[in-house]
Amino acid sequence: MPTKLTKLAFSLSLLGASAVASAESFTFETTVKQSTDTLVVFHAKDSATSSFQAFNSKTNGQLEKAIAAADFSGDYGSMVEILAPNNLDYQRVIVVGTGDKALSKDKATKLGGNLSGKLEQKHIKNITVAADNVGENNAETAALIAHGISLRAYRFDEYRKEKRQEKSFYFDVDNGSDTAKAYKPLNNIESGVFLARDLTSETATELTPVDFVKEAKKLKKLGVKVTVLDPKEIKKLGMGALEAVGRGSIDGSRLVIAHYKNSSDAPIAIAGKGITFDSGGYNIKTHSSIAHMKVDMAGAAAALGTVKALALNEEKVNVVAIMAMAANMVSENSVAPGDVLRTAEGLTVEITNTDAEGRLVLSDALWYAREKYNPSILVDLATLTGSKVRAVGNDYAAVFSEDDELVKQLTFAGKQVNENLWRLPLGYGDMLKSNIADLRNTGTGGPGATTAATFLQHFTGDVKWAHIDIAGNALASSNKGEVPKGGTGYGVRLLSEWILNNKD
Ligand code: BES
Ligand code: MN
Ligand code: ZN
Repeated sequence: MPTKLTKLAFSLSLLGASAVASAESFTFETTVKQSTDTLVVFHAKDSATSSFQAFNSKTNGQLEKAIAAADFSGDYGSMVEILAPNNLDYQRVIVVGTGDKALSKDKATKLGGNLSGKLEQKHIKNITVAADNVGENNAETAALIAHGISLRAYRFDEYRKEKRQEKSFYFDVDNGSDTAKAYKPLNNIESGVFLARDLTSETATELTPVDFVKEAKKLKKLGVKVTVLDPKEIKKLGMGALEAVGRGSIDGSRLVIAHYKNSSDAPIAIAGKGITFDSGGYNIKTHSSIAHMKVDMAGAAAALGTVKALALNEEKVNVVAIMAMAANMVSENSVAPGDVLRTAEGLTVEITNTDAEGRLVLSDALWYAREKYNPSILVDLATLTGSKVRAVGNDYAAVFSEDDELVKQLTFAGKQVNENLWRLPLGYGDMLKSNIADLRNTGTGGPGATTAATFLQHFTGDVKWAHIDIAGNALASSNKGEVPKGGTGYGVRLLSEWILNNKD
């Protein structure tokens, strides 16, 4: 006799010790018996789901009437909240439009995010989500909706007196255990995203390069090898650019390497810009945006978050994150404008602007990645330029690469997780010619995001490489879809998706 697994409720706690915390509590079951204050039902464009029909007939057509009165069409993204009819044992019913029956990955996740936003009222504590029959693959779709809900419900509450209260979601699905199984890897990805968000939202004073090292070392218990180079070792290896940027702060620079090796393939290397605070240095930032510059380590945070997500999921991949950490501060020891630095690559750089520090720390990190790991592909993530924000805004990150196939893969992965990329060109190399050194660190003209990317290109040798400029993506000023305001963890979902899409 087969055990009737589907009759059981599958909550995360039942999945064993490796289940990690979501931002909400989820239970997936075939028939929800729990009474809750809120009911969520779905409705496709011009066709009701079976749950909607069942609740509608239970209320003698009241749901139909209510959505007609609200001019609800079932279009993707539409939502109405109604007072629950008398013979339904809830306080409110939320009807969610799914558009087509088939919900793509990105749409299901975003739908969960928007639903979570709608439910963000203190008096809503527990929710029945009548998700049976939704999507073509019900387990997958329901799990993605839960994923979107959790991603959006995350808060960085460390500095608030009033903490957000977790809500309980009871998902009514076609198969409880299948849905719980489909959610588990997504939950682990959330864990990587939340790490990146926590690190990005944490203040510069509380998260110095040394504090970042402590956070990275926590991944050791997941089988990740963590190596740290201090300023002396950085200097000894000739990484004069990374060393110089950190010279103006008490701790100095760190190169942090987190290697998750669970395959014999050549590694994929992810380099991350890790400026824990960017004052600009002697070219000090004078605009009010300086108050956001704790964000400048978001590339490193996303690199570490990606490794965490892959390790939690025990993926059969070989990925190494190389994070270039420093605080770009003003002090007597800081690099002076006009200084010439020597990179480990052997190229010298004239510092024409101390605020173009990201490309300096990354130049040595890219060299290190090539030299020590011989990666098959090298991708770097960096909050690199204001120019990128002016070019494509905050809804896209900019990708730069000579490799059309790599751009295609990354762009495709980004689309699936609502972390969209837009390609910008490399080039304008003449703008980086210096009168005194091999390169200058800012262009004498040309598009700033491109000259920054082209600067980096000098340090990538002949490794297949892409640079992703995430300035403007890493810290959100408003809630949107599955991303709440604050540190976004941008890049963790994109890179995890890309790595998993392309492993053989
Ligand atoms: N960290 C900034 C870029 C940035 C801008 C990040 C907005 C996040 C949001 C970077 O180090 C920087 O200062 N870039 C300068 C370069 C310039 C001096 C060539 C910029 O873009 O203005
Ligand atoms: Mn800067
Ligand atoms: Zn910066």
